Amino acid sequence: MNNKQPVKVFHYLLHPYNTSLVTCCDAEGNPNIITIAWLIPVSVNPPLVGMSIGPTRFSYGLIRETGEFVINVAPYEIGSQVLFCGRRSGRDVDKFAETGLTQQEAQSVRPPIIEECVAHLECRVVQDIEAGDHHLVVGEVLAAYANRGILEENGLYRLKQVQPLFHVGRNYFTSTRSEYEKLSL
Ligand SMILES: Cc1cc2nc3c(=O)[nH]c(=O)nc-3n(C[C@H](O)[C@H](O)[C@H](O)COP(=O)(O)O)c2cc1C
Repeated sequence: MNNKQPVKVFHYLLHPYNTSLVTCCDAEGNPNIITIAWLIPVSVNPPLVGMSIGPTRFSYGLIRETGEFVINVAPYEIGSQVLFCGRRSGRDVDKFAETGLTQQEAQSVRPPIIEECVAHLECRVVQDIEAGDHHLVVGEVLAAYANRGILEENGLYRLKQVQPLFHVGRNYFTSTRSEYEKLSL
C-alpha cells in the first residue's frame, strides 16, 4: 500500500464530471439556474435521472415547489457562466441577467431551457431521497433533445462539434482532447 495516498476529499476521485446548468422556477414562473455536476442516468425505461442537490440551495426549494427542472448540457465555451451559477445564489442575484444566458420556452415543463446549451432533458420529480447532506432527486425525463447536427446517427455526440464541459474539482474545468474510439471485446 506504499504507493497509495489517503485523500481528504473522496468525491474528487470520481471527477471529472460532465457539468450541467439545471433550470427551475417558482410557482409564478420566475426562473433560476444552478450548476450541477452530480447527475446520473438511473433507468432507461422508464427514463429516470438522479440529481444530488444540497437542500440549502435556493434551487432545491424551487424544485420542491414546482416538481420540475431542466438539465441543460453545457458546452466548454460557457464555462465561466457555469462557474458563476455554481458560486452565486438565486436568493441574491438574477443569474440570467448576470450571465447573459438566454431563456427559451421548454416543451413540457415550466422552467425555461438555456439556448447556449447543447442538449436539454426536461424532468418531473418522482422521488426525493434524503442522503446525508444532499438529497437524491429522481426525475422522470419527459422530453430530451439536442441541437441539430451535433449527434452522430447512433445518437452519440460528435466531439468535433461539441466540446463537453467537465468539472475536475474546485474551480478547475477541462474538456475532451480527442475523438473517441470504438474498443473491441
Ligand atoms: C462546478 C460546480 C458543480 C456543482 N455541482 C453541484 C451538485 O452536483 N450539487 C449541488 O447541490 N451543488 C452543486 N454545486 C453548487 C451549487 O451550484 C451552488 O451552491 C449554487 O450557488 C446554488 O445556487 P442556488 O442557491 O441559486 O440554488 C456545484 C457548483 C459548481 C461550481
